[in-house]
Amino acid sequence: MLTDAYGRAVTDLRISVTKRCNFGCVYCHDEGLGPVAPPGAAHPDEITPDEVERLVAIGREFGIRSVKFTGGEPLVRSDLEEILARTVRQVDDVSLTTNGSMLEARAESLRVAGLKRVNVSVDSLDPDEFRSIRGGALAPVLRGIRAALRVGLLPVKLNLVVFARTVENIPEMIDYVGASEGLKLQLIEFMPELVADRALAVDIGEVRRWLESHATRVLVREMHHRRIYLFNRAEVELVDPVQNPEFCANCHRVRITHRGELKGCLNRNDDLIPTRGLSDAELRAAFRRVITERVPFYGGYVAAHVRPAAAAPLLRIADAPPAVPSTE
Ligand code: 5AD
Ligand code: SF4
Repeated sequence: MLTDAYGRAVTDLRISVTKRCNFGCVYCHDEGLGPVAPPGAAHPDEITPDEVERLVAIGREFGIRSVKFTGGEPLVRSDLEEILARTVRQVDDVSLTTNGSMLEARAESLRVAGLKRVNVSVDSLDPDEFRSIRGGALAPVLRGIRAALRVGLLPVKLNLVVFARTVENIPEMIDYVGASEGLKLQLIEFMPELVADRALAVDIGEVRRWLESHATRVLVREMHHRRIYLFNRAEVELVDPVQNPEFCANCHRVRITHRGELKGCLNRNDDLIPTRGLSDAELRAAFRRVITERVPFYGGYVAAHVRPAAAAPLLRIADAPPAVPSTE
């Protein structure tokens, strides 16, 4: 197992298989790599199933235990099943984050290929509002969620990005997941760094306080000390990375871009390490390097590297601490 300079073991790979997407969410961070591409034809530099398998095989040598696929929208790739089948030869715990719009027709074949779980983004249950936030239709997404439940891609986690236009939707989303066995809700704090409109951010502390005072029970997950809020049968988790050094202290993930580069942190793209054309020995060295160079973004990197002018907008977010704490 490889551990970085901050004592964080790396056990998890997040692989972007494409930059393409058929939606256009107002909040999309596109993995920190610039705007998504149209869904049509594959861009020529898209990672191949061979490349994915080799990266996962080398990752496994270093203790990678789980793989999550993401995009863009991973289901724009017609060979996603092949990618999954190659991945599960190496690592068993394989999941997928999708916008859900193309999931209904492929839930079964994805499961047969070896997929274990899915995350589907749903920020609103109102079709008009959904379309205005996501640039696509709600109904196929809800059908995709039903299909995922039916074929057993469990749990199906619904991702709601919490920002000014969705914060009011939290109670109805809690009711929605509570009504179906197998659904869970993840409230994901809007990450403003990589998005043009930073004013969309809301005070996530207020959301946490609301959850704490309205939940029927609060559990603390042993792993990462993350809190689970129970609302009768509904399970709700709050993912709040922004300005949160504790979140970064618990980050065990390395990313791979749609071009096959290693990437140490979602919020950075100055740390990309190309892997194309490398021998196995060179690829192992690249893996070691990306891990050696990882820095907890909100626990040191911002304080050390971001010039005051660039940092200022981050600090305008409600409830942000007056200075970025360091890990020292
Ligand atoms: N802030 C927080 N979460 C985001 N996602 C996309 N952009 C952002 C952002 N700016 C989440 C969505 C999406 C997943 C891939 O990442 O939940 O489904
Ligand atoms: Fe970005 Fe995902 Fe929305 Fe597509 S569905 S625009 S990749 S957040």
